[in-house]
Amino acid sequence: MSGRLYRALGLMSGTSLDGIDAALVTTDGRAAVETGPAITVPYGERTRDRIRECLGGGGPAASVEEELTELHAEAVRRFLAEHPAGPLDVIGFHGQTILHRPKEGRTVQLGDGALLARRTGVDVVCDFRSADVAAGGEGAPLVPVYHAALAASLERPLAVLNLGGVANVTWLGTGGEEMLAFDTGPGNALIDDWVRRHIGASFDRDGALALAGRADRQWVARFLAHPYFARRPPKSLDRDEFRGFVPEHLAPADGAATLVAMTAAGAEAALRHLPLPPRRWLLGGGGRHNPAITAALARALGAPVEPVEAVGWDGDALEAQAFGYLAVRSLLGLPLSFPSTTGVKAPMPGGRLFRALEA
Ligand SMILES: Nc1ncnc2c1ncn2[C@@H]1O[C@H](COP(=O)(O)OP(=O)(O)O)[C@@H](O)[C@H]1O
Ligand SMILES: [Mg+2]
Repeated sequence: MSGRLYRALGLMSGTSLDGIDAALVTTDGRAAVETGPAITVPYGERTRDRIRECLGGGGPAASVEEELTELHAEAVRRFLAEHPAGPLDVIGFHGQTILHRPKEGRTVQLGDGALLARRTGVDVVCDFRSADVAAGGEGAPLVPVYHAALAASLERPLAVLNLGGVANVTWLGTGGEEMLAFDTGPGNALIDDWVRRHIGASFDRDGALALAGRADRQWVARFLAHPYFARRPPKSLDRDEFRGFVPEHLAPADGAATLVAMTAAGAEAALRHLPLPPRRWLLGGGGRHNPAITAALARALGAPVEPVEAVGWDGDALEAQAFGYLAVRSLLGLPLSFPSTTGVKAPMPGGRLFRALEA
C-alpha cells in the first residue's frame, strides 16, 4: 500500500566540496521509492576556494550562500533540461555544510531556501539538520531512513558505508526496524586536501598516488587511539575533526596511503559498535571509485565489500536521492531522524519548507 506519490528532486553537496548532485525520486515518503535520473554539476575551483574560506563558520558566508544557491538553481535548470520529466512537487535542498558541532548545538548549511524556491518556482525543503540538533541529536547521519526504505528486501545484517568527505555507516539489522548509524571517521576530505597540496589535483584519481605509497602503521594506530572511535554511537563528525592527524612528516605517496589506511581503519573500528557483524558491506559515495580505499576496506572488514551498484542502486546519486526522499517525509511531517541514527530522544521530524508562491 502506498500513499500519494511525490516527484522530488534531491540536491546534495557534500563535504568533499566536489560539486552538486541532483537526483530524482518518486516516493510516498515511506516504503514506495522509485529512483530516476541524476546529474552532477562540479564546483569550479574558485567556488571551492570560497567555500573553504567559510569552513568552520568564518568567511564571507552570506555572499557564498547566495552564490551557492544560484548554482543550485542552475543545477535544477540543467537537470530539467536534460531530463524533461514533468513538474516537480518538491526540491530537497541540503545546502553546503561549513560547520557541524552538534555538541555546541550548531550545524550550519549554506543555502537560501526562499531564494531557490523563487528561482525554480518549486517548493523547497531545506535546513534538514537544525531541528534534530536543537532537540539534542547529532544532526547526522540523516540518510539511514532512506537506506532502510531501499534495502527492505535485502538480506541482513547489512551495512551501507557512504564514502563522502566524511564516512558514515548505516547498519540494518535482522528485525525489520532495527537500524544503527553514525559517522565512522574520515572519508575522502583529508585525502583530497592532501593531494591538492602535494600534487595540485583535486582528488587522487583511481587511488594512483596512495597505491604508490606505504601506510605508516604507527601513525594509523595513533589515530585510532582518538577517543572518537571508542565512543558509542550515535555520533557524528565535523569535516575537519581529524585535521591534526594529517601525516605531515610523510612524502606525498606515503601520506596518501596513510590517509587511505585511516579511512579504512575508521570503518573497521565501527565494527565493534555493531550489534551483529554485517553479512556484506555496500559502498556508496565517491570513495568507492578509489581502488586504494576499496582494497583497504576489503582487507579490514572481514565480509564482502561491494559497490551499491551490486544491488542496483546508484552510488553517486544515493545521497541526493535521500534528500529528495527526506523532503517528502518533511512535507508529510514524518520523522527524519531516530534515537538509533542521531541519538535524538524521540523520532524527530525536520526540514523547513519554502513555498514557491510565497518565496
Ligand atoms: N575515480 C576516483 N578516484 C578516486 N577518488 C574519487 C574518484 N571519483 C570520486 N572520488 C572521490 O570522491 C569524492 C566525492 O565523493 P562524494 O560522494 O561526492 O562526497 P561528498 O558527499 O562529500 O560530496 C571526491 O572528492 C574524490 O575524493
Ligand atoms: Mg559530492
